[in-house]
Amino acid sequence: MEKLEKAIAKCHSLDELEKIRLLVFGKKGYFTEAFANLKTLQGEEKKQVASTLNETKEKFTTLLAEKKEVLERGKIDEVMQKDAVDVALFSTTLGAGALHPVMETMNKIIDYFVGMNFSIEEGPLVEDDFHNFEALNLPKHHPARDMQDTFYFDDGMLLRTHTSPVQVRTMLSQKPPIRMICPGSVFRRDFDLTHTPMFHQVEGLVVDEVGKVSFANLKFILEDFLKHMFGDVTVRFRPSFFPFTEPSAEVDISCIFCKGEGCRVCSHTGWLEVLGCGVVDSNVFKAVGYENVSGYAFGLGVERFAMLLHQIPDLRSLFEGDLRLLEQFR
Ligand code: DAH
Repeated sequence: MEKLEKAIAKCHSLDELEKIRLLVFGKKGYFTEAFANLKTLQGEEKKQVASTLNETKEKFTTLLAEKKEVLERGKIDEVMQKDAVDVALFSTTLGAGALHPVMETMNKIIDYFVGMNFSIEEGPLVEDDFHNFEALNLPKHHPARDMQDTFYFDDGMLLRTHTSPVQVRTMLSQKPPIRMICPGSVFRRDFDLTHTPMFHQVEGLVVDEVGKVSFANLKFILEDFLKHMFGDVTVRFRPSFFPFTEPSAEVDISCIFCKGEGCRVCSHTGWLEVLGCGVVDSNVFKAVGYENVSGYAFGLGVERFAMLLHQIPDLRSLFEGDLRLLEQFR
């Protein structure tokens, strides 16, 4: 037993310790045999030997447990030392991040309008029917609601389908004149090459006394803005329909890839559609209690701008979180 005690003291590894444990407590180990031998003894002697054996057994249990703990702790220290990282150490191969192309595009848009003295407004992502539809001249059962596949909650609330409800919120909480943009995320049940369930829009609204804001002002500012974004492009306004503006227009720029000659990106038309706009419909002013004012509004999709500016073919790639995409924008 003394030998085994010394072996435990000298033992350097958990494997070695397990071998010793088997010699002491294993099926063919010291104690199994010693206790079996008790059968050959009798009376006082048997009692004596059994008692000594039990004491020794306890002693070895403790010795082995203590040694095991020491060795385990040593092992942790060893791993800690091996895997230690010097956080203050400077690496020459530091990876640099990049601003996401959607945010970069968003910033470029915001820069223009801030420079033109527009305020930046925000609104909630979870909206009610009044702000998202009703006040924007989209009454219940209006077919134009189908243009925007909406995510509804059980209680009738919804994820805003556009940033236009922020027009309503701003007019309800401020007095004219108003000169605002609202950048933010919006949600629609849509998923393909050019649609994702969440995307970003920038909304614009200008309201002032009757006669102070006209379609001509709208044309000027959007043309100037699109040149800021895309460089030397031709801008055209096409009549269109939005429930919240009358008259309404869709705005095209000459294709930045083929310079208007016709290519795959512009479907051989020479034009790229980039935003919607118009003169604010009087029903919208009625809904927010505005009188004797006129105004114009516009809305655009930020991802569409980013895709055109960076020639990104699949919109979904912008939201996959793949660092290899971001690395291209450093
Ligand atoms: N809200 C429209 C959409 O999501 C975009 C839009 C068009 C906003 C015309 C406007 C506007 O303010 O005047 O499709």
